[in-house]
Amino acid sequence: MKRIVILISGRGSNMEALLKAKLPCEVAAVISNKADATGLEIARARGVHTAVVSHKDFASRDDFDAALAKEIDRHRPDLVVLAGFMRILTADFVNHYAGRLINIHPSLLPAYTGVNTHERALQDGVKIHGCTIHFVTADLDHGPIIIQAAVPVHQGDTPQTLSARVLREEHRVFPQAVRWICNGNVRLNAQGRVETDRMEQSGTTLISPGLE
Ligand code: GAR
Repeated sequence: MKRIVILISGRGSNMEALLKAKLPCEVAAVISNKADATGLEIARARGVHTAVVSHKDFASRDDFDAALAKEIDRHRPDLVVLAGFMRILTADFVNHYAGRLINIHPSLLPAYTGVNTHERALQDGVKIHGCTIHFVTADLDHGPIIIQAAVPVHQGDTPQTLSARVLREEHRVFPQAVRWICNGNVRLNAQGRVETDRMEQSGTTLISPGLE
């Protein structure tokens, strides 16, 4: 069975969705860069091994990433999953896990890379927003896309209501992406493109607001 390591920084609701999803893989460890991440408690309660590698203990990003990689590699993962891990990673770290490092991002990439995605989407008045699961490359939030889910933006939405709508989709598509990778249905090819054995969705167009 494939082994995965999940990295978190806080609440851990996406990690919890992965733990609940009965995935065809073993969650070897949940690792946080913050000792007070509430997600660590959730993982421990489910009997998952946890560890903390605090970025504050290291003078440089390189040193932190090297220590983090050492902790991850102890668990011999086939896949490393960034589930709300809020640190920018060095190119050395990303290259070490090429093709086996994925991230969830709360926007329809390539729109709204970085932070405060929901606030910025509302400010721009976009009608469709969502989330993306992608392979991680050294180019922040620009890696090859595995799956996306779109949601409508409603009049009167606040960052909170919009993020809650997006988060519901995050909890659906993230386990799906991990399941595909662990089952060998999705992979990164030598050209750096996502290859999939899955049927393309057909005959469906997402339009928001709906047509008359
Ligand atoms: C999620 O919305 C995730 O998409 C986002 O952080 C949140 C973590 O929530 N990730 C990023 O912004 C990465 N750039 P969670 O801890 O409850 O899963």
